Order: sequence, then C-alpha cells, then structure tokens
Amino acid sequence: MRFQGKVAIVTGGANGMGRSTALLFAREGANVVVGDVDPAAGQALEAEGEGRVHFQICDVSREADVAQLVAAAETRFGRLDTIFNNAGIEQPVTPSVDVSADLFNRVIGINLNGTFYGCKHAIPALLRAGGGTIVNNSSVSAFANVGGNIAYAASKGAVMSLTRVLAIEYAKRNIRVNAINPGVIDTGMNVRNRERALDQDAWLERSMAVTPMGRMGTGNEIAETVLFLASEQSAFITGIGLLIDGGRVAT
Ligand SMILES: NC(=O)c1ccc[n+]([C@@H]2O[C@H](COP(=O)([O-])OP(=O)(O)OC[C@H]3O[C@@H](n4cnc5c(N)ncnc54)[C@H](O)[C@@H]3O)[C@@H](O)[C@H]2O)c1
Repeated sequence: MRFQGKVAIVTGGANGMGRSTALLFAREGANVVVGDVDPAAGQALEAEGEGRVHFQICDVSREADVAQLVAAAETRFGRLDTIFNNAGIEQPVTPSVDVSADLFNRVIGINLNGTFYGCKHAIPALLRAGGGTIVNNSSVSAFANVGGNIAYAASKGAVMSLTRVLAIEYAKRNIRVNAINPGVIDTGMNVRNRERALDQDAWLERSMAVTPMGRMGTGNEIAETVLFLASEQSAFITGIGLLIDGGRVAT
C-alpha cells in the first residue's frame, strides 16, 4: 500500500498501459482520476476500480480539459500527489515527405502538447500538496527508430526535453519529473500497428528482431516502473528517461 492516502492522475488510462497503471495505483491504496477520450472503456475501468477510480472524459490536446481533470482530483479527493502523462497516439508508418501538416499536428497535439498541459496544470496542485511526482510517457522512439514515424518520434523526443527542463526547475521544490521509454509493449497501439502492416507476421518478426529479449513487454511491467518513479523508492531520481525496452537500445 505504497500510495495509501495519495491521489494520482493517469491520462489515457482507459486502455493499455495507462489502464494497468491506474489499477496498480488503486491496488496500492491511491485514489485515481483517469482522463481519456474512450468513455466505454473508462466506465468499465471505473467499475473495476472498486470506488478508487474516477473516470472523466478528457482530450489531452485541449488545455481546458486537462485543467478540469486536475481540478477533479482536488475537488473529489482533496489533493494531487502524482500524475502519469500517458495519453498518446501512434502514427501510421508514412514516408516523412508524405506526412500531412494535419497528421503531424495531431500527433504533436496529443503526445507533446497534452504532456505539456498535464505538467503545467498538475504542478500548482502538486505544490499545494507539498510536492509530488510526474512521470511522462515518452518512448524508445526518443532514441531508436526504423523510419516512417517522424511525427511520433519528434513528439517523444520533445517529451524527454520537456521532462528535463521541468526536473531542473522544480528540483528544489520537492517535485520530481521523470519519463519512461517503453519499447514494444503488448497494447492496443501495437495491435493497430500490426494490423496496418502489409505482412503482419513480418511486422512481428521485425519488432522482435530489434528486441534482444525477443518478446513484447506487458502493461503490468510498465505499471510497476511508473509506480517506482512515482514513489519514494526513487527519491533521488529526477530528469531521467527509464528504458523499459527488453534491451533494444543496448544493441
Ligand atoms: N505500445 C507501445 O509499444 C508503446 C511504446 C512506447 C510508448 N508508448 C506510449 O504509451 C502510451 C500509452 O499507449 P498504449 O500503448 O497503452 O496505447 P493504447 O492505444 O492501448 O492506449 C492509449 C490510451 O490513450 C487514449 N487517448 C488517445 N488519445 C487521447 C487524447 N487525445 N486524450 C486522452 N486520451 C487519449 C486512448 O483512448 C487509450 O485509452 C502512449 O503515449 C504511447 O505513445 C507505447
């Protein structure tokens, strides 16, 4: 019960690794506010959360939605101790010169601007609680890519820069800001990526060929790492990106 009496926000928490993380926060004693654009999955999660999970519609690319999400944590549960800025979308593999401004802006709007809004609006609430933690979901794509994902990689690289800037700014005010860099994880995002591939078996083979451990990571493996970075167990860690990639960047 590492998070007994604590309050957490998880964006994009209705599915995938955000969902695993919201449920682990709840199991460890936290009250959790989940913001997502998928109401059906969000309500199902709320039912599974045994009174500890509150779901609210929130499109993280809209600053007002994110401000309301933070306000909901303080109104319902009285404080905010940690936020996992996790909401994100993939980019269909596309030659960079064929990427439309609309696609580029949409990916940046959710993955980067959404993370910025999450940090910007959470920080005053964390300060009111006497300090806290932020974990941003970047990606192994901030360090290693195979091409065809210019908007996604740019958004995730920028999330690393934003994380470092905030870590420095708030280091003396008891707010730690870190990121995670997942490799290939078994979530809906990779079901969609695989379905888009012309040859689905070849997609899986390629993904596993760049992953020394030869398997996808799980949502629970991500959740455990997020809770470590959000907890006192990582008290002297700030401004890092923690790879959870089955060895990919070691190659
Ligand atoms: N799956 C991977 O291999 C992988 C690897 C590295 C990083 N990531 C990152 O992990 C995060 C979570 O992805 P996932 O793999 O769990 O995918 P997922 O598609 O299973 O879950 C993403 C969640 O975000 C929500 N979402 C989408 N747009 C949103 C918006 N505008 N506002 C609020 N919520 C929104 C979706 O409804 C969904 O519930 C993303 O930031 C993704 O880029 C994923």
